[in-house]
Amino acid sequence: MNSEIIDLQAENLKQSYDELSKHKFATDLLLGLSAQPKHIPSKYFYDDAGSRLFQQIMNLPEYYLTNCEMQVLETHAADIVSKLGSGPVNIVELGAGDGSKTKVILKSFFEKNIPITYYPLDISNDALKQLISAFGKEFEQLKIQGIQSDYEEGVRWISKHNSQKNLILFLGSNIGNMLLKDAKTFLRKLWKSLNHEDEVLIGFDLKKDISLLLPAYNDSQGITRDFNLNLLTHVNDRLGANFNTDNFRHYGTYDAERGAMVSYLISLKSQDVHIANLNKTFSFLPFEPIQVEFSYKFLIEEIEEISQQTGFRIEAEWYDEKGWYVDVLLSVQKNKK
Ligand SMILES: C[S@@+](CC[C@H](N)C(=O)[O-])C[C@H]1O[C@@H](n2cnc3c(N)ncnc32)[C@H](O)[C@@H]1O
Repeated sequence: MNSEIIDLQAENLKQSYDELSKHKFATDLLLGLSAQPKHIPSKYFYDDAGSRLFQQIMNLPEYYLTNCEMQVLETHAADIVSKLGSGPVNIVELGAGDGSKTKVILKSFFEKNIPITYYPLDISNDALKQLISAFGKEFEQLKIQGIQSDYEEGVRWISKHNSQKNLILFLGSNIGNMLLKDAKTFLRKLWKSLNHEDEVLIGFDLKKDISLLLPAYNDSQGITRDFNLNLLTHVNDRLGANFNTDNFRHYGTYDAERGAMVSYLISLKSQDVHIANLNKTFSFLPFEPIQVEFSYKFLIEEIEEISQQTGFRIEAEWYDEKGWYVDVLLSVQKNKK
């Protein structure tokens, strides 16, 4: 008898990351544009053009988050590193971007002669390539291994590669892009993937006057608008859609009940958009929104509650001098019975 067993997992592994992520992108678009209200997950902002636009956003005067966190790290990097002991550390950075703030932390590890291996993880291939090339030039002695993945896959990777002391970096208030309930679920999964007394450094943007928040997500040069609209161009390029970006408008507002900045792309007229990869047409009403990003803002009490609920102990909290932003060092606690 001629029999054959197909190992689906092995088959899947033969598919490239590109094919798998395209399939996921298409599925997320199908679900998001079929829902009411329509939405698209913010991780799809970051194609090559999106990553470059985000780097411009980080340099905008209105986008205070970058300067605030840079100041925290420049002031406290030595303190952060001193909390990790003197043994070798694996540093995994979730959503590393251009890593400009991470350099400050790495320099402190070098000054203390602590052996490190750095694993920047990002969904954007372009961002990763640029980071690896820049870090390779600046830190010749650094062991670096990029991981192209989304956070979920990244956490699965961590759970299989956690044999020595880990420091997870989650900077830039990336955590604020998740719905609050998803952020909690994610932190719990991260906790599970780590060992007792591994550490996680998370940047949180704090709640503040709304007049400071609005310009940060609606800058005067229109870079944030271009960044948001580029999401539709990304869908066109990757999934063969025919979005006309002139027919949509960026709108960023503060949702006081959620405590989050929320970004929308608003359809300016009645229109149909076809997505070839899905072989499906989606209809938009005049002024119908597509929700594309949440940026939650936090009170320190909320951060403490989320941390404790998900199994972490707060080791330290470091603020910028205006008190607009905080980096929190969390220690994984697992009761050994
Ligand atoms: C707001 S930027 C912050 C970059 C950096 N952490 C910083 O603080 O400057 C978000 C970064 O996370 C990446 N990213 C966004 N969503 C992601 C996801 N679900 N999985 C992996 N990377 C993601 C983006 O490509 C981008 O480089």
